[in-house]
Amino acid sequence: MRIDILTLFPQMFQVPFSAGIFKRAIDHKLVSINLHNIRDYTHDKHHTADDYPYGGGPGMVLKPEPIFEAVEAIKSDISAKEEVRALPIILLTPQGRLFSQQIAQELAKYSHLILICGHYEGVDERVREHLATDEISIGDYVLTGGELPAMVVIDTVVRLLPGVLGSEASPVNDSHANGLLEYPQYTRPAEYRGWSVPEVLTSGNHAQIAKWHREQTIQRTLERRPELLDKTNLCLEEKQLVERLTPPLKQS
Ligand code: 6GU
Repeated sequence: MRIDILTLFPQMFQVPFSAGIFKRAIDHKLVSINLHNIRDYTHDKHHTADDYPYGGGPGMVLKPEPIFEAVEAIKSDISAKEEVRALPIILLTPQGRLFSQQIAQELAKYSHLILICGHYEGVDERVREHLATDEISIGDYVLTGGELPAMVVIDTVVRLLPGVLGSEASPVNDSHANGLLEYPQYTRPAEYRGWSVPEVLTSGNHAQIAKWHREQTIQRTLERRPELLDKTNLCLEEKQLVERLTPPLKQS
């Protein structure tokens, strides 16, 4: 997968992409990340990327021209090789659709993504209307810019790409991967400060262990994020478990 990032602060991306699983994915050519400084696509001598909002109001607005020109430069670089029509151009903005594991799975199917990091009070509306194909927010809180959200989206998507995680199976059991939370994990020592690992996990009985994992997943989700259970397809055994674990409604 190729990912192009348009930002006023390309240096913010140096550290996260130069360590751990990310570095390995880049070194193994499973993903390539191209950073573009929006300021490099300005034409005036001060490299002005933002301007005052028409109609007044606080803050500055990102100008449309450098953003359009940066995206067009990327497109002209690739148009011979790939389908430009199927190229998502994603604006990171608090007004976007709420990011989720499902959206990450959708995005992981593309071979190329362009991410535009919004800033200041916003981005000229013509970028949303005539350039972006998608708008994503990572949650209901306000950040100073789209850089951290872009990193969140990229991290979530890249770890889904084949070969990026050590074991191919590992994304399958993640919290949220199946719509539910992950069961609790333990490693050695079997007893630490008097706290023991659940006995079933050291029993070697794989059927019992699998059953415990399923039960814990449902119990955890019920306790912490019950609304997730409504959106998930459960088998009969799992539905019965939910019923057993749900406290009865108080009589009025
Ligand atoms: Cl994508 N941008 C900003 N500035 N704030 C946010 C966000 C994005 N998602 C949540 N908060």
